[in-house]
Amino acid sequence: MTTTDSSSEVEPSSVDLLPFADPTYQADPYPYYAVTRDQGPIYESPLGVHVVTRHADIFKLLRDQRMSSRQLDFGIASVFHDSVLGQDSPDHGRLRKISASWFTPAMVEKWSVTMQGYVDRALDDAADRGSLDITDDLAFPATFGTMADILGVGQHDAELCRQGTLDIGKALRPSAGDDDMRIAEEAFTWYVDYINDLIAFKRAHPGDGLLDAFIEAEAAGSMTTAEVSATVTLFYAVGHLDNSFLIENGVRLLLERPEVARTFVDEREQRYQILAEVLRHDTPEQFVTRYVTEDIDVDGAILPQGAVAVLLIGSGNRDERVFPNPDEFDIARDNVQKMHLAFSGGQHGCAGQVLARAQGDIAIARLLERFPDAHLGGEIEYEHTEFIRGIKHLPVNVR
Ligand code: HEM
Repeated sequence: MTTTDSSSEVEPSSVDLLPFADPTYQADPYPYYAVTRDQGPIYESPLGVHVVTRHADIFKLLRDQRMSSRQLDFGIASVFHDSVLGQDSPDHGRLRKISASWFTPAMVEKWSVTMQGYVDRALDDAADRGSLDITDDLAFPATFGTMADILGVGQHDAELCRQGTLDIGKALRPSAGDDDMRIAEEAFTWYVDYINDLIAFKRAHPGDGLLDAFIEAEAAGSMTTAEVSATVTLFYAVGHLDNSFLIENGVRLLLERPEVARTFVDEREQRYQILAEVLRHDTPEQFVTRYVTEDIDVDGAILPQGAVAVLLIGSGNRDERVFPNPDEFDIARDNVQKMHLAFSGGQHGCAGQVLARAQGDIAIARLLERFPDAHLGGEIEYEHTEFIRGIKHLPVNVR
């Protein structure tokens, strides 16, 4: 079962193969990725970063200890160095262990019940209205609500948190300009103050959520106060961003392909396969970034010590060497669950992937089961930058 999402032709250019800031590139970067993959294993962008585009190279580099997150300049987001995301071993392992037990398959079964509650409430409202916006009415409230419940906090200022996350994301990209940086800096200041107030409240009103577990870890000496703050900020952001994109991209792809939607509903055992293909085809975060601590040979080319390496997982996921006819959405690929790179890999591989998959399953299956006649109800507004691929508005009619 295969279908292609369009791709325009791109000619190799001596100017810039990956024009990150170009709206045409941001709307459809895949033809540019294909040209860049063909030109060699590493592409030196005029913006000063070394971009790795082929699946096999990215897969290896994600597991290479010479690639550092600690030594990367996070700019305005430097507080994230106090979270797993900005650490190398051994501090990375110490921090990762503290939350790992909260996202095991057994715990995810518990969070799935929470998620179902949010999804069903959103669908009840949709049934009354006859329509919903998948982003505003379903994906965001359900994922944000679930994460707030896991942390053991209320859902205040949800919209500000969402906007703050998107604003920060705009600064974490090669083409970020002065305006992006200013907006992101304001968002970051707001976010960190907000999280610190929340932590102060939880210190005074303890409970049994993940945030309480971080406070206990701090009391036991296994986390610093700065690490608690950075980690909670990180979970606030990642707990709703990419998993919403998975739901939005998945609903779009399936509503456009009724036969795949039927398979998703009727054949439960196919659901993770289909979700993996959604993640491969529309990878929510197009790249991860590392600092190169020594010269590394990448398939005959040198990634030089001191370089900032952009590992373009969105391109690895469209690499024809691993995924034949990569622009086709094809749920029959036998390697996609094992080989897609959307959750990154190695020690920084996504800590929330079991939860994210379960959330994608619940939201999409319950929507399609309850509303077999659901169909696109208007213009889709995308949230694309060179970093993220999601949907801002996805109107759906349910009858
Ligand atoms: C479809 C949904 C998701 C996608 C595509 C995704 C993607 C990613 C990616 C690409 C990274 C790696 C960053 C790197 O290598 O530098 C990552 C890390 C991480 N993700 Fe996710 N994520 C998703 C959902 C979630 C959820 C729901 C949570 C939380 C419950 C979460 C928690 C984390 C954490 C804590 C890290 C940092 C791991 C580390 O540095 O050790 N993610 N995610």
